[in-house]
Amino acid sequence: MESCLLLVGILVTLNLPYSQAFWGNENKIQTAVFRSPKFVLGPGSVENRFYYNVDFPKGHIALKSFNAEVIDEAGNPVPLHETYLHHWLVVRYFVRKGVQISEYDDHATLNSSDYISGRNSGICQSPKLTQFFGLGSETRKTATYIPDPYGIEVGNPDEIPSGFEEQWLLNVHAIDTRGVEDKLGCTECRCDLYNVTVDEYGRPLRPDYKGGLLCCYDRAQCRVKQGFKGVRRTLYLRYTVKWVDMDSSVLPVKIYIFDVTDTWKRTRNSTGINAEHQCKVEYDIEPCRATGLAENGCIDTRRISLDMPFGGYLIYGVAHQHSGGSGSALYREDGQVVCSSSPTYGEGEEPGNEAGYIVGMTTCYPRLGAIEISKGEALIMESNYSSIRHHTGVMGLFYILVADQLPKPMHTLHTLIQTQDSITVLTILWAVVALIGAAAVVAVAIRYRLKREGEEGYEAIGI
Ligand SMILES: *[C@@H]1O[C@H](CO)[C@@H](O)[C@H](O)[C@H]1NC(C)=O
Ligand SMILES: *[C@@H]1O[C@H](CO)[C@@H](O)[C@H](O)[C@H]1NC(C)=O
Ligand SMILES: *[C@@H]1O[C@H](CO)[C@@H](O)[C@H](O)[C@H]1NC(C)=O
Ligand SMILES: *[C@@H]1O[C@H](CO)[C@@H](O)[C@H](O)[C@H]1NC(C)=O
Repeated sequence: MESCLLLVGILVTLNLPYSQAFWGNENKIQTAVFRSPKFVLGPGSVENRFYYNVDFPKGHIALKSFNAEVIDEAGNPVPLHETYLHHWLVVRYFVRKGVQISEYDDHATLNSSDYISGRNSGICQSPKLTQFFGLGSETRKTATYIPDPYGIEVGNPDEIPSGFEEQWLLNVHAIDTRGVEDKLGCTECRCDLYNVTVDEYGRPLRPDYKGGLLCCYDRAQCRVKQGFKGVRRTLYLRYTVKWVDMDSSVLPVKIYIFDVTDTWKRTRNSTGINAEHQCKVEYDIEPCRATGLAENGCIDTRRISLDMPFGGYLIYGVAHQHSGGSGSALYREDGQVVCSSSPTYGEGEEPGNEAGYIVGMTTCYPRLGAIEISKGEALIMESNYSSIRHHTGVMGLFYILVADQLPKPMHTLHTLIQTQDSITVLTILWAVVALIGAAAVVAVAIRYRLKREGEEGYEAIGI
């Protein structure tokens, strides 16, 4: 009996420092769950609104993760085949103190002397792709957490322009596809299904513009099956933010977003800075039978080469693709994979597993320090789509988080244990436990023998 207690005692003692190290900053992680302003959608209708000054954690903090999903008024998750979440974006900005930007202000009419972008670190030219976080249909099954000791630093009083305060903008683009004639067509924003020939501001579209964001603007309407009746319903984007208070143990990461439609070209005097990166955000996939490229397995591959205007260690990476996507990757010039990210398609009906939709993207968490990007280095970004059928308005984005520093040695044990080496450490710990266990068994055997030899012996070995 005592030997069992002894073993448990050893296990507890061994596990205590272990679990503390393993969980690192976990005990400090704070979580808040918010709802966007409500939006109301009927069959075929589109919502693409920019909500300024949304609820967000305050203070000088480091963001650890951001997750979101569409819910109904009762708080139930809504499946993608009813409300397709085209995308949501979270954008930081600074606003002059005392100036009220309403939740629904048109971002085009903001007075520039009162409003300063608090964009990510690059690399597309503003106002394209300036968000901190942003995903689409894959949001329910895509990891966004940032491993310790890293985080996205926000609310730093030294970085907020004087006289201004930091706020957050949430853009939600959702399409109600209940009862529509062509669900995929509506989610791909095909202009014919929306009966759209001019954009939101009345400007005519290019004749070859067959589909994309210009055709599924806020309040646009996709064609619904004749006679279909569906109630309008109230929805929200529910978002969960995790963060830690900023202190010297947290190392900041920078956010970079690459776009496969970036038209940047290397020139003798190119600097790679944002102004040179015209990102078109969306593109079309021509069907392989039309392009006569069926022999390549009907995969559309887009590649661009970009010179990195920054350097550092890769902490996290994820791609964003639309239905039809079959994977995306970043390579070095010699072909070494820096990070690859592939879609997971759903197979059922329920939220998070909707058949035919991308319900998640795989992510990269390289072993700390394993992938270093050098300033000026060329990286190749690749985005693959199935070209069995025509697609409009697809996207090929790649988000990466990059740190200037590796943790100091004091942190190395934590981080080692958190990454791939955890298995090794665990094995060693259990080997130690097993050894001590064996010792305990021997001790029991000896005690048993001693006990049989008399009371004195028992005292001698007693614990
Ligand atoms: C913008 O704000 C400045 C100072 O607050 C003001 O002088 C200017 O008239 C404003 N411009 C517009 C277009 O509202
Ligand atoms: C499509 O738009 C045109 C021009 O705006 C309009 O005349 C026509 O009635 C619309 N068709 C449908 C089916 O809404
Ligand atoms: C490079 O320099 C030339 C001549 O100064 C200029 O015309 C061109 O626009 C520059 N290109 C870029 C990408 O800055
Ligand atoms: C993209 O497709 C090409 C051609 O089929 C293939 O060689 C490459 O490995 C694919 N890349 C990814 C990231 O899936």
